[in-house]
Amino acid sequence: MREINQFLGGEIAQTLTEICKQSKTAAAWTAKDFQTEAAQKTSVIFIITESKNNAKTLLGFCAVRFAFEKAEITNFAILPQVQRMHFGTEIFAYTLNFLKEKGVKEVTLEVSSKNIPAQEFYKKFKFTNVSVRKKFYNMREDAQILKLNL
Ligand SMILES: CC(C)(COP(=O)(O)OP(=O)(O)OC[C@H]1O[C@@H](n2cnc3c(N)ncnc32)[C@H](O)[C@@H]1OP(=O)(O)O)[C@@H](O)C(=O)NCCC(=O)NCCS
Repeated sequence: MREINQFLGGEIAQTLTEICKQSKTAAAWTAKDFQTEAAQKTSVIFIITESKNNAKTLLGFCAVRFAFEKAEITNFAILPQVQRMHFGTEIFAYTLNFLKEKGVKEVTLEVSSKNIPAQEFYKKFKFTNVSVRKKFYNMREDAQILKLNL
């Protein structure tokens, strides 16, 4: 059985950090970063888990900050071994729906110009390119700023 829940703090932060380490193009948040982010009023981190034979696996997460009509996806990753199985689609659609219900009208995010899988993913959700931040990552890779009107 698959579930999407809000991460409210706790030990699971360590596993979330592991997902970041393995999914190299995710933002490299530490367990403390996850705890701090989850404690913010204007921030939500959703996690997607799968339970099988009494074992629960954390498949990925989607972190977002929102205020009034605007939101920003701040970090997002699915475990590499279960990518391309539509778990990302599931949790991302859930997050967008949550934001819509909160009255958010515009969602933005940044993605490396070299991160083609993520760009393809966001394209599928109808995000459009609004600008480029040159050499944003490590003074080397450009960041594409994408936007979606909900
Ligand atoms: C981006 C990410 C979260 C997508 O999650 P996912 O569960 O693998 O994606 P899905 O299976 O839901 O894919 C949905 C669609 O996105 C596109 N897509 C996803 N991965 C892709 C890839 N490797 N190459 C091309 N298109 C891809 C496809 O259109 C796909 O639909 P399809 O499989 O029916 O063709 C995942 O690739 C990931 O964790 N990447 C590493 C971390 C990262 O880069 N995060 C984003 C930072 S901005």
